[in-house]
Amino acid sequence: MEYFQISGGKRLRGTVELSGAKNAALPIMAASILCEGEVTLHGVPDLTDVRTMEKLLNRLGVSTSRESGGTMRLKVEDEMNCHADYELVAQMRAGVCVMGPLLTKRGKSQVSLPGGCAIGDRPINLHLQGLQALGADADLVSGDVLLKAKRLTGTELFLGGPFGSTVTGTANVMMAASLAEGRTIIESAACEPEVADLANFLNACGANITGHGTPRLTVEGVKKLEGCEYTIIPDRIEAGTFIIAGAITNGEVRLRNCRLEHLLAVVDRLRQVGVNVEREGHEVMVSSARRLEPIAVTSQPYPGFPTDLQAQMMALLCLADGNSIITEKIYPDRFMHVGELNRLGARLRKEGPTVIVEGVKRLIGAQVMASDLRASAALVLAGLVAKGETRVNRVYHIDRGYEKFERKLLALGADIERCTADEPD
Ligand code: EPU
Repeated sequence: MEYFQISGGKRLRGTVELSGAKNAALPIMAASILCEGEVTLHGVPDLTDVRTMEKLLNRLGVSTSRESGGTMRLKVEDEMNCHADYELVAQMRAGVCVMGPLLTKRGKSQVSLPGGCAIGDRPINLHLQGLQALGADADLVSGDVLLKAKRLTGTELFLGGPFGSTVTGTANVMMAASLAEGRTIIESAACEPEVADLANFLNACGANITGHGTPRLTVEGVKKLEGCEYTIIPDRIEAGTFIIAGAITNGEVRLRNCRLEHLLAVVDRLRQVGVNVEREGHEVMVSSARRLEPIAVTSQPYPGFPTDLQAQMMALLCLADGNSIITEKIYPDRFMHVGELNRLGARLRKEGPTVIVEGVKRLIGAQVMASDLRASAALVLAGLVAKGETRVNRVYHIDRGYEKFERKLLALGADIERCTADEPD
């Protein structure tokens, strides 16, 4: 099993080039099922999750090929199979994004119901509610959700749940509605830039979607979608992670290919902490004051502070001069990193969906265990500044969502090495 060995205390300096957004690339790849011609995507990051999506699409009759530099070509060759089985969906929940496209294009979709994961229950009831509102019949067959419909019909529907909007749920319903008959209005749609990116991709293929990026999305169904050439937006969560990496090491980091307008809530909180994040031409420059101020942060749907940066922000606030409060409003149990950060000398106390962070003067290196993608990134960030050696086990979580993570950190001057252990972890 691989782990990262980090020797803390190096100030990061230099420029890092951000990759394309994982959470935009995955549903856009799934949307290729809808298209008649070849799809060419640029900016597809090389990640385990992307490879898992390729495998899933290949089984569903979509051929995929990669060129260097993040270009991927996808083309539907065979429309017989409509079954996304447990083996792949259990590895990666974004596998459910094939549900809407299969249903609307092939009239049937059988997708394994994803179970819970390290960050919470993660139900898909809203996806199903939306697809049923478009006219699909739903059944549960041996742990698979079986959806059928001869032709979907547009309607007005509300897609909000107890924790707000749903990102992949909106993606599924929007993709299904793009080939439905008539107009669909999705109220309480997710406004995340990745959902808007998917809508832009679909429009480039011939769909008629408006209102993306707002909570009221309108989809006028069209008869067919063609292929197109499209560039995926840069990854705002990777950007936020590197901004915090710069801040936590009191370094000076420049980001290339960064869309700061997707990170306004994050920049707002970071400035409150004392981190300078400024646009300089096409780049973003990060530097920080020596003293970090404590703050309150609450994760919310976009444009609020993203849950996918909650753990990394916690790592930073461990070193603030006073008590911070972090509240998780999307996944109230997404706190697996709390116990691990405490192993590094943090003083964190969890009370329901809130963590009280008592700032400490320093973190001290130790062996810690990654539990999910973003929690793992937070442990690496903490390791970069912890005194002495930190070993972060189970780095396969990081490989799911950060392209060349340790190589990018190395290039900024971090002392980090990917090592292989003989023993299983
Ligand atoms: N929810 C429901 N019912 C549903 C769907 C969601 O109650 O049918 C709840 C969820 O349990 C959660 C909230 O609604 O409390 C929001 O979940 P959402 O559906 O938006 O999450 P997702 O689409 O499954 C995507 C990202 C996640 C990210 C969340 C929230 C992808 C592939 N995944 O998940 O990314 O945390 O949105 O922004 O886009 C990650 O990249 O590390 C990651 C976990």
